[in-house]
Amino acid sequence: MIKGGRRLSGTCRVSGAKNAVLPAMAASLLAEGPVEIVGAPRLRDIATFSKLLGILGAEVTHGGGADGGEVLRIAPGDARKAEAPYELVKTMRASVLVLGPLLARQGRARISLPGGCAIGARPIDQHLRGLELMGARTSLSEGYIEASADRLSGAAVTFDMKTVTGTENLMMAASLAKGTTVLSNAALEPEVCDLARLLRAMGADIEGEGTDEIVIRGVRSLHGARHEVMADRIEAATLPLAGAITGGDVTAMGADASSMNAVVEKLRRSGAEVDSVPGGVRVRREGPIRSVNVKTAPYPGFPTDVQAQFMAYMSLGDGFSIISETIFENRFMHVAELRRMGARIDVSGNTAAVKGVPALSGAPLMATDLRASASLVLAGLAAKGTTEVLRIYHLDRGYEALEHRLSSLGADITRVKE
Ligand code: EPZ
Repeated sequence: MIKGGRRLSGTCRVSGAKNAVLPAMAASLLAEGPVEIVGAPRLRDIATFSKLLGILGAEVTHGGGADGGEVLRIAPGDARKAEAPYELVKTMRASVLVLGPLLARQGRARISLPGGCAIGARPIDQHLRGLELMGARTSLSEGYIEASADRLSGAAVTFDMKTVTGTENLMMAASLAKGTTVLSNAALEPEVCDLARLLRAMGADIEGEGTDEIVIRGVRSLHGARHEVMADRIEAATLPLAGAITGGDVTAMGADASSMNAVVEKLRRSGAEVDSVPGGVRVRREGPIRSVNVKTAPYPGFPTDVQAQFMAYMSLGDGFSIISETIFENRFMHVAELRRMGARIDVSGNTAAVKGVPALSGAPLMATDLRASASLVLAGLAAKGTTEVLRIYHLDRGYEALEHRLSSLGADITRVKE
């Protein structure tokens, strides 16, 4: 429940990055000893991945660390299972990240083929083709991918398109393969670099992460490591947007401005003031919201995971904003909900034309996917009257206790039993 119209101001902390923790958890399957991930937030997706690792024989604990940081500890078990069941995979596509590690460590894997999800078909053909080039045999039976390989061998793999988890899966598989793997047209996302940092700490021989070409020289084995996970750059964009949309002044501590240049540039063009402060990013807005155009793209372009949140902001712009979603084929489900609040948005194909309106009005809304639900919360914060966002389990997948952090910035937001 959100009572809108209040300016948000103050300082909040950005959590550890969900999309860096999940691949790090998968990488722990490669290690002969425990992997500790410091700064992992308490999220549904992380709890789901912990369950999956448990099914695969690992022992996972998530508790307060000595230095106060949340420490996620994964100890590889002995009884090695290699099947990721449908009922888990269907709730979290990132489960596909265990495919590479299981193949590299066990020589086999049986993963339910992830179905589509709300935002698109999301095939994994790039993952499978790369693993086949490394010597894996794959087949599909009863909705499960079955893959096996005596020992993976290094290969030259060129991706048809930028794929984040595709790059991560093959980086992990290649780290124990025999010989050298060269990944071309690799994803440049900071989360890929964070994974490379962890794998290197575990003894892997990797270079080139953060560029189009990553070279991995396989080693015989990898040991455990302790890894400080990077800050969540999507949350680091979402929280300051709560300040910008309400005409407030919000500082997100832990945000790394260098990983969010595309968002910072659009915020500045919209009339918000964005400053790097020691250890964080500060966003203020006093004047009108200037309508700007946005086109999502692989990193370092404007992140698709911030598109819905930015559209909520642009629905209060002073003119027209053209928003193009180039990564996923169905990532405009927040549009119908924003319209219920009075937003003027027309969609044709993967482009939305947003005609800014002077004010939004609160309404009961339905969350459909993780980032769309954050967009509805932002709109509710700025709207006149009360907004009720239903099905906020979507929100809890990627944002830890968002309502508490927004309340600490002055929002009138509470979680009520449905
Ligand atoms: C990662 O998903 C993120 N998830 C997504 O965040 C993010 O939106 C996405 O990257 C894009 O940045 C995690 O890191 C766990 P892709 P991923 O493979 O890896 C197509 C969130 O909200 N493709 O980079 O699944 C695909 O359909 C989530 O936290 C193929 O066609 O995305 C898409 O159109 C949502 N074949 C495009 O590439 C493949 O084999 C990019 O997908 C792989 C991908």
